[in-house]
Amino acid sequence: MKKFTLRINKKSHTIEADENMPLLWVLRDVLDLKGTKYGCGVGSCGACTVHLNGIAVRSCQLPISALANQNITTIEGLAEKGDHPVQKAWLDVDVAQCGYCQSGQIMSAAALLKSNPRPSEEDIDNFMSGNICRCGTYTRIKKAILQAAS
Ligand code: FES
Repeated sequence: MKKFTLRINKKSHTIEADENMPLLWVLRDVLDLKGTKYGCGVGSCGACTVHLNGIAVRSCQLPISALANQNITTIEGLAEKGDHPVQKAWLDVDVAQCGYCQSGQIMSAAALLKSNPRPSEEDIDNFMSGNICRCGTYTRIKKAILQAAS
């Protein structure tokens, strides 16, 4: 066990953990930030997506030892009042069905709009292809992203 200091949602956290502990477990089990979800654990579903220095990453694939002095943002820290344009569009369009994948979807969509504020439908399909929705709400996801971008 070693001590690591992580910057998550603009706050510093010092955590004692095995250096290989994935960020996803740090968030959920150590810091009780349960908005980030466990889906597959192997980097294939996108449920665990967070931002690392503004870039969408899979937190199940990031060991705590690689994260010192980096800015990590989870769904809880995306917008102070849960009112990021993607979150607002998500509610307007009523995207969620079971809702399990939505924090990962929203974090990916927010990263997309940061790097590409006016994405085409093809841009959205390409960028979001790593985020799986078991309910198949892809049409509403795309609609919400287009609405957030307008
Ligand atoms: Fe990390 Fe599926 S839980 S990509």
